[in-house]
Amino acid sequence: MKTVAVHTGIPYEVSIGRGLLGRAGEWLAGLTAPRVAAMVADDTVDALYGDQVQQSLRGAGFRVSRMRFAHGEASKTLETYAAVLAFFSESQITRSDIVVALGGGVTGDLVGFAAATWLRGVRFAQIPTTLLAMVDSSVGGKTGVDLPAGKNLAGAFHQPVGVLCDPDVLSTLPGDVFADGMAEAIKYGVLCDEALFNRLAGGLRPEELETVIGRCVAIKAEICAEDERDTGRRQLLNLGHTLGHAIERCSGYGMPHGHAVAVGMVYAARIAADLGLCDAGCIARLKAALRANGLPTDADYPAQALAGAALSDKKRSGGTLTFVLPRAIGRCELRPVPVERLPDLAACALRPDV
Ligand code: NAD
Ligand code: GLY
Repeated sequence: MKTVAVHTGIPYEVSIGRGLLGRAGEWLAGLTAPRVAAMVADDTVDALYGDQVQQSLRGAGFRVSRMRFAHGEASKTLETYAAVLAFFSESQITRSDIVVALGGGVTGDLVGFAAATWLRGVRFAQIPTTLLAMVDSSVGGKTGVDLPAGKNLAGAFHQPVGVLCDPDVLSTLPGDVFADGMAEAIKYGVLCDEALFNRLAGGLRPEELETVIGRCVAIKAEICAEDERDTGRRQLLNLGHTLGHAIERCSGYGMPHGHAVAVGMVYAARIAADLGLCDAGCIARLKAALRANGLPTDADYPAQALAGAALSDKKRSGGTLTFVLPRAIGRCELRPVPVERLPDLAACALRPDV
């Protein structure tokens, strides 16, 4: 088992190890006195792992109440958020109780936001069950829901009391959902770890999961400890997200987040190459690694549509949007650009590689 410490304002640990799910109760009892645990999962995850986790929590002395919602990004809404709050109310969750988010990034974001706002904030624990949630979304305290006007527009920073990752649960993930997580893992490689990138470039073997999750979490933990509220260096974690979110929006949220981030990273690399920051080899290596992991490197939306969708990005600050651009595999920089330049940059992102 590996443990990564996250030194945010309220520090916590990420525990990573095969078979840990069956010991979730013991783990949670080490974090909080066993009272009521309100466990929320989507229907798929609830059916696969809900009973096992509930049994383990009960065995450790928790009184468990359980809720499930329909899986998918379409549930990350104010309506489901209200349903989760109603569930907390029925479960009579007080500030000495605990909320457990069991599932992927949708569950963690949605349930974390409900925990952040119920009684002005109750403690919550994350048990991520997708690779994306293990390497990224369960760590760092960003929670929220989508609004018709854009993705993650309503949210809060609310750190979990702990995160439990059991790579064994990834064996039931559909291949394309596993690939979503690989996109975020490759992102860490492009950002600051060329050795990690090289390790992922040909795909990942199951026995490497624990090490790779640990490395990605360590990178995210270090960045979030320095910039918990996303005002500086943490923005680097948005590599591929500016145009990635625009692609998601153009697809009516039909394209999954990780797939959109994969394309967004290629677009960022093309913009970087056009500005003379990186060379064509960087784009080629990135595209090869994404393809080897079953990820797309292009999407079908015109520059104007992408530029328009990027305007609603919550990271826009007045008339400026900050792009994360690679200088090389393993090194990126933040580049604020005036929004008037978005159509040009989007056109450059779509230009075929030579
Ligand atoms: P998800 O939570 O919708 O999970 C994807 C699918 O996998 C779902 O259908 C789910 O039911 C299924 N699933 C989950 N675990 C499973 C398992 N072990 N076996 C079989 N099926 C399983 O999506 P996701 O890709 O995990 O997360 C995407 C979300 O995360 C997006 O909303 C994105 O905005 C958010 N996100 C948040 C952060 C953050 O820092 N908070 C970072 C990155 C992404
Ligand atoms: N996924 C981006 C962040 O947590 O900041």
